[in-house]
Amino acid sequence: MHAAVQERLIRPARNILGSLRLPGDKSISHRYAMLGAFAEGASRFTNFSTGADCASTLACMEALGARVNRLGGDAVEITGVAGRVTPANHPLDCGNSGSTMRMISGLLAPQQGRFTLIGDASLSRRPMERIRKPLAAMGARLTLTDGHAPLTIEGAPLTAIDYTTPVPSAQVKTCVLLAGLQTSGATTVREAVRTRDHSELALRAFGATLTRTIDSVSIAGPQSLHGIEAAVPGDISSAAFFLCAAALFPGSALVIDALGLNPTRATLLDVLTALGAHIAVLNLEEKHAELVGTVQVSAPAEGLGSTEVSGVLAAQLIDELPVLAAIAPFTRGGIRIRDAKELRVKESDRIALVARNLRAMGAEVAEFEDGLDVPGGQSLHGAIIDSGGDHRIAMAFSVAALRAEGETLIQGAESAAISFPEFFDLLDRVAER
Ligand code: S3P
Repeated sequence: MHAAVQERLIRPARNILGSLRLPGDKSISHRYAMLGAFAEGASRFTNFSTGADCASTLACMEALGARVNRLGGDAVEITGVAGRVTPANHPLDCGNSGSTMRMISGLLAPQQGRFTLIGDASLSRRPMERIRKPLAAMGARLTLTDGHAPLTIEGAPLTAIDYTTPVPSAQVKTCVLLAGLQTSGATTVREAVRTRDHSELALRAFGATLTRTIDSVSIAGPQSLHGIEAAVPGDISSAAFFLCAAALFPGSALVIDALGLNPTRATLLDVLTALGAHIAVLNLEEKHAELVGTVQVSAPAEGLGSTEVSGVLAAQLIDELPVLAAIAPFTRGGIRIRDAKELRVKESDRIALVARNLRAMGAEVAEFEDGLDVPGGQSLHGAIIDSGGDHRIAMAFSVAALRAEGETLIQGAESAAISFPEFFDLLDRVAER
């Protein structure tokens, strides 16, 4: 059943104060769910992502023969299939989740059987050729529908490859590694920009051996995995909305505990620091090689400065760019974003939607094929925001709305639940009105 389309009214705030602990990281939860379901034995995860995307992964893995026991709250117990899935007699529904579709395809391509993967309207528009190409080079039989989902996999043993990803993509890297895990010989993925490395860390945590160089990662298959127990770190891409909100209000003080701070994900902290926000990181520890810590943020009295996000930074910050662009009018010098063409093929065309919604709030913004220029020193007014059913657009403009004059109506607010169902409640908790 689909959640009803909802609207949310966001009132301006005076300040952001308080402390939060956030639900588990979406990227890590996907990987733990897939690997736990594929491994031998039982895994138990606490602080598992509460988002609909990770529920899609759990449901797919359940349909493939894993036993999934939701223990209540945010705990999940998974009994794995010990390396051999059972083909489902119905299509596997990946919902809105590109991670689910792209990563599971790599897991299934070397398995026995026929698998069909489907997704919602947004996912069915997203490019899938990027996974078909390397999997086909390994000998996989994967058929797309005009470059998109639905996709069908006729599983068969594969051959190892050495693959250089044409666009930086952790999902494509993971897809190839999960196929390589089950394939004789060394499979190597090379990437020009080091994308998030949760798959590498998670595969090791589940008992696999991988080797890496500065720009490549290799896995020699076949290898088997065993179940683990893990607490999923808080999601830094969800924290981004609160960190950016706090950075907008001189006098703000926000603390986020148990937050995932993997260096391939924490670039936003550097960018906020470059903008002048005060950020402190405390209590750093490692959990299954993932860094976790407490982040304190407060805003500079003189307001945020200016910055440019391009090149490697754009790839590493890809999920945080909508909220950075949405707060850019409130900086003194503006924010320039380039080399972020991938934003156009996310859950929505995020460049177009950010530009349209900023304009709806009265902002001046220049749109480019691969980015945006958002001048600083602007005042925004409340407006009707079209989230395009994209969770990060709904949340990004809820943050901009905190500093606007008048109220803002977020259409399609229910989409926040794709990654962060608690978002609006937590925003109300820390926003002083
Ligand atoms: C993700 C990788 C990124 C990111 C997505 C999650 C992942 O996508 O945008 O939200 O968990 O691997 P790409 O790998 O396609 O860039």
